[in-house]
Amino acid sequence: MRIDKYLSNLKYGSRSEIKALIKANKITVNNQKVSDSGLNIDPAKDIIKVFEEEVLYRENVYLLLNKPSGYLSATKDNLHKTVLDLIKAPFNRFDLKICGRLDLDTEGLLILTNDTEFIHNFTNPKKDILKKYYCLLRDKLKDFEVITKGVILKDGKGEDYFTKPCKIEPIDDYSCYIYLSEGKFHQVKRLFQYINNEVVYLKRLAIGEYNLPEELKLGEYLEFRKEEKLCKKQ
Ligand code: URA
Repeated sequence: MRIDKYLSNLKYGSRSEIKALIKANKITVNNQKVSDSGLNIDPAKDIIKVFEEEVLYRENVYLLLNKPSGYLSATKDNLHKTVLDLIKAPFNRFDLKICGRLDLDTEGLLILTNDTEFIHNFTNPKKDILKKYYCLLRDKLKDFEVITKGVILKDGKGEDYFTKPCKIEPIDDYSCYIYLSEGKFHQVKRLFQYINNEVVYLKRLAIGEYNLPEELKLGEYLEFRKEEKLCKKQ
C-alpha cells in the first residue's frame, strides 16, 4: 500500500498534507526518511513513524469502554458529547463503530470496533447474545415474574411485539441484575415500566463473554485483541 494512502486513512492528513510532511522530513519507514509519497509499504511489517512517533498498526481495533452517563451512543451529534469523544490517540484514528447502543443516561459496557463483521455477529438477534445489566429501581422489586416470561411492548413502528423471556436476579429490595438476549429501544426501562416500576439507574455489566472490567473507571477503555483476548489499560 502507498504510504500516503495508509497515513491519510489513519487521519494523519489529506494526501497533499502527507506529501508536505514527507517534504519536511517528518516521516520515516524503518528509520529511513521517506522522500516519495508513493512509496509502497507493508504496514504489518514496516515501522512507520510520523514526527518520530510510531504509527499503531492494527487491521482491526476492539475496545471495551465504560460509558459514563451524558455521552450519546453515536459517532456524531450536534447536541451531546458522543462516546467517541472519549477515545484518544491512537485509537481515534480508526473508524470505530458502536456495537450495541446504550441510552444517554445508561452507564457501563460498550464495545467499539472497526470490524463490521464482529458488529454484525454481536448485534444479530438470531445469535441470542446475553446482556447483563445492574438496575436500581424506584419502588420495591416485586411481581417481576411477569416480565421474565415475556410481555407485549410496542416496537419502533408502534406495533406490538412479544419480548423474549429474560432472567432477573434480585440483589436486595430495590436492585437486581437482569439478563436479556435482545436489545429493543429502552427495553430494560420499559420492562420495569410494564410492572409500574421505574429504573432510576442502569449499568450494563456484560455482553456475551465480555465483562466490564472492574478496574475500568467511567470514561476509560481497554483494548482487547479478538484472537488473543489480551487486554491493555489505556
Ligand atoms: N435498556 C434500556 O432501557 N436502556 C439501555 O441503555 C439499555 C437497555
